[in-house]
Amino acid sequence: MCGIVGYVGEGSALPFIIEGLKKLEYRGYDSAGVAVMEDSRIELRKKVGRLSNLEAALHGFNDSMGLGIGHTRWATHGRPSDENAHPHSDCTGDFVVVHNGIIENFAPLKDWLVGNGHRFSSETDTEVVAHLIEEAYEGDLADAVRKAVSRLKGSFALGILCRREPDRIVAVRKDSPLIVGLGNGENYIASDIPAILGKTRRAYILEDGEMAVLKKDSVTLCDVTGAPRAKEVFNIQWDAVAAERGGYPHFMLKEIHEGPKAVRDTLSGRISEDGSKIVLDDVGLPADLIAGVKRVFVIACGTAYHAGLTGKHLIEKMARIPVEADLASEFRYRDSLMGPGDMMVVISQSGETADSLAALREAKRRGVPVLAICNVVGSSISREADYVLHTWAGPEIAVASTKAYVTQTVALAMLAAYLAQERGAMSESERRGFIAEIRALPQRVERVLALEERVAEIARKWAPVNDMFFIGRGLDYYIAMEGQLKIKEIAYIHAEAYAAGELKHGTLALIVKGVPVIALATQPGVREKMLSNITEVKARDATVIGIVPEGDALMEDIRKQCDELLEIPAGDPLLMPAVEVVPLQLLAYYAAVARGCDVDKPRNLAKSVTVE
Ligand code: G6P
Repeated sequence: MCGIVGYVGEGSALPFIIEGLKKLEYRGYDSAGVAVMEDSRIELRKKVGRLSNLEAALHGFNDSMGLGIGHTRWATHGRPSDENAHPHSDCTGDFVVVHNGIIENFAPLKDWLVGNGHRFSSETDTEVVAHLIEEAYEGDLADAVRKAVSRLKGSFALGILCRREPDRIVAVRKDSPLIVGLGNGENYIASDIPAILGKTRRAYILEDGEMAVLKKDSVTLCDVTGAPRAKEVFNIQWDAVAAERGGYPHFMLKEIHEGPKAVRDTLSGRISEDGSKIVLDDVGLPADLIAGVKRVFVIACGTAYHAGLTGKHLIEKMARIPVEADLASEFRYRDSLMGPGDMMVVISQSGETADSLAALREAKRRGVPVLAICNVVGSSISREADYVLHTWAGPEIAVASTKAYVTQTVALAMLAAYLAQERGAMSESERRGFIAEIRALPQRVERVLALEERVAEIARKWAPVNDMFFIGRGLDYYIAMEGQLKIKEIAYIHAEAYAAGELKHGTLALIVKGVPVIALATQPGVREKMLSNITEVKARDATVIGIVPEGDALMEDIRKQCDELLEIPAGDPLLMPAVEVVPLQLLAYYAAVARGCDVDKPRNLAKSVTVE
């Protein structure tokens, strides 16, 4: 996600802003910009690429007024470019804004503003905020910001400057972090603690709906109605390294915990307000393509491929379109019969995986339209695909993909429901029910995280083993595949995922006393079958760790067979992947920690595999 830094004080703003932005570089970004007050106007500089590009463009800046804001952008709406980099200003240049988050209703707001004569100079959702403040301004910046944010839907952390009030920064947040650092004769805003640690350890951590007006020697807090707020000063104890990870010992754990927010962002703006429709206007799939597609190829590598398998299941089940799912490295060389009437869905967190990119190019060479499900805006895959469904999970730093997988499965569920909706393959009441279930996902992911301690206990107990088996049927089998990959890649435990019905065709020979078998049993249609498979491995004295939906009485027999049980929030079985994978990610994480592995950078592996 993007980074925000701001300074108001007796000194110069720029050195703090640039240092602060550097401290946030680890989070990933594609462009950066600053705005500082200069005499009677606000000067802006924005550059795509590294911070050094921005620094080079700052020579000659007169930064004598001690007021400025800066930003590192990780694109969501609009490709990475100088124009789309923050800060953004209104028509007059009097109001300047940096923003983290997603303004869901930016399109209607932009139409309205354009109708009122506003001129836009970027493709971003953020720019509407500057123009809304311009519209609302009647001599008091804080008041105008309050009016502007009352019209916003979505998430935001905002830092705002106004030429006519050159002694202050206004900051406000909803669903996106923002802190106010407290200094002597100067105060700061930042999206994350590392940005201010060089200056102060005293801060206000803003809550949703809270707003701050910072001057050099005062910070006034209120809510978005203007009512004053009192807050305790937070004393930051973390060292710089822990602060980068938000206090978590590893990025992987931090990113697992970011799952609920990542899912919220993936859904953001893509469900109609009345909950009756999936709205994928940002993807722009043409109606004739949706109506005419005869077959879908889902192509990806690694974790993204496992998400793709869940997509195959859902698209076939809901939209009734045949789907072939393939590993990009296999697909490329197998001379498939892809051609007219087909469509490719390529899934990639990074958007740079060489095999996935090559598969995409092959589809285009054959005239097959390509939809990318991708996390990195402006990446090769999202640039070259015909259509892109961005997952908006925010940057993922740990090599092992966690929140990106969760959001890929959610994006695929939305795609499946959208195709079904547009092709008339789903009744309105079914659709409404499914959408309500999708909307419940962030909260379910949050709830499943509460199992963390229990999973950690199990992981520590089983960490010394050499082999593990993961079994499941239907969607559970695909999640088993992701669970075994996680265990292998970060805990270096040999693991195999098996379609539970296949056990008797070979793997059962390996099931001996004490071998841990993780049995995923969330799919009601194959419950009895899973019970037989669990009984089979129990009969060979395996230790069964069961994952079942909570409160499901019909799972009682399975429960009784399990040595350890993890009960996860129940819901539509088709949406289980996003929830069920989380304990498996935690299991791998805690096993890796117990085995002393380098969790975030496992041996021999890379985050983005740009070679074949
Ligand atoms: C590497 C990463 C995996 C990832 C895979 C595909 O192997 O370590 O976590 O799933 O590449 O990457 P992509 O960026 O295309 O999703």
